[in-house]
Amino acid sequence: MQTKLLCPSADPTAIEQAGALLRAGEVVGIPTETVYGLAANALDPVAVSHIFEAKGRPQDNPLIVHIASLDSVQEIAATFPPEAQALAQAYWPGPLTIILPKQDRIPMVTSGGLNTVGIRFPSHPIAQAIICAAGVPLAAPSANLSGRPSTTTAQHVMEDLNGNIAAIVDGGPCTVGVESTVVSLCGERPRLLRPGGISLEQLEAVLGTVEVDRALREKIDDTEKVSAPGMKYRHYAPKAQVTVVFGTPEASADYIYAQLGENSGVLCFDDCAARFAGKAVVETFGPSGDAAEQAREVFDALRRFDDTDCTEIYAQCPPSDGIGLAVSNRIKKAAGFHIIDLTEGQA
Ligand code: TXA
Ligand code: MG
Repeated sequence: MQTKLLCPSADPTAIEQAGALLRAGEVVGIPTETVYGLAANALDPVAVSHIFEAKGRPQDNPLIVHIASLDSVQEIAATFPPEAQALAQAYWPGPLTIILPKQDRIPMVTSGGLNTVGIRFPSHPIAQAIICAAGVPLAAPSANLSGRPSTTTAQHVMEDLNGNIAAIVDGGPCTVGVESTVVSLCGERPRLLRPGGISLEQLEAVLGTVEVDRALREKIDDTEKVSAPGMKYRHYAPKAQVTVVFGTPEASADYIYAQLGENSGVLCFDDCAARFAGKAVVETFGPSGDAAEQAREVFDALRRFDDTDCTEIYAQCPPSDGIGLAVSNRIKKAAGFHIIDLTEGQA
């Protein structure tokens, strides 16, 4: 299959072409404010099954359903409780996915066999226009091959999926850079399943206390049952083994410097890069004090290591407040939770 690159900035018919392909049951890569998505008609089980095939994604990993109007929630979720409405009011359209009990019309293949469904109203104008042009809600996981870092440019999507999907819509680089926050409202208390573009602090400002899923803090065995099935799979990983080093930028840089071998790579803050020049393959992902910039750059930086000869990568990591929680979660997952914590034992 020839994968078409559609550019709305140059071609006024691009959105309509994407909508027509989606209506015809095809899979299309689309930009969102978080990461690129691999979209298909969420109500068509055959179209959705092609997403799983193109990504090489395990069938038990549910997809998020994307909408472009609040009214669509009633067609997808069995209930829209007040706390979900409050979240929608505060953070939609935006980088937040809310898990609710699903309606029967959402096929089981879309929800990974669960009775719940993740719903997101993206803020990206091109994503919204494509959903409207398709005329149906769109199921879309991140547009990467399963296990690889998520994609934040149309070029990344081409790298992973060229030849396997009908088209990619180029909306330029994503402005958030890490995926949406996933919060479940299906249990007794709200539960954070994946940190993302909306911080835990922002969720708690609306919901009060939010439980944090165990899968965010530690590695989950493949055989265990988890609330967000996606959390148990190897993720975001470059080919080389990654080790995360937690600590102040100075302390982690010192530690990493002492470990460097022949084929080492370093994923580091901009302000620490000079330290490693000539000693290792260095990829930077933003200033140490700017987690929002780190979020925009982290996946691109992880991907760049695959063009190098590194056999091991040491990574710096931001503190876990604000969007730093999402950045550190993605780096820990890229490392398979292989973590050196220099703060352990400190008060
Ligand atoms: O920002 C995003 O959320 C992007 C863009 C394209 O919207 N999408 C995305 O989808 O990251 P994906 O499939 O790569 O990640 C969705 C995560 C997975 O960890 C999945 O297991 C979880 O959300 N999830 C989806 N539906 C769920 C459900 N019904 N119950 C629990 N977890 C769910
Ligand atoms: Mg993903």
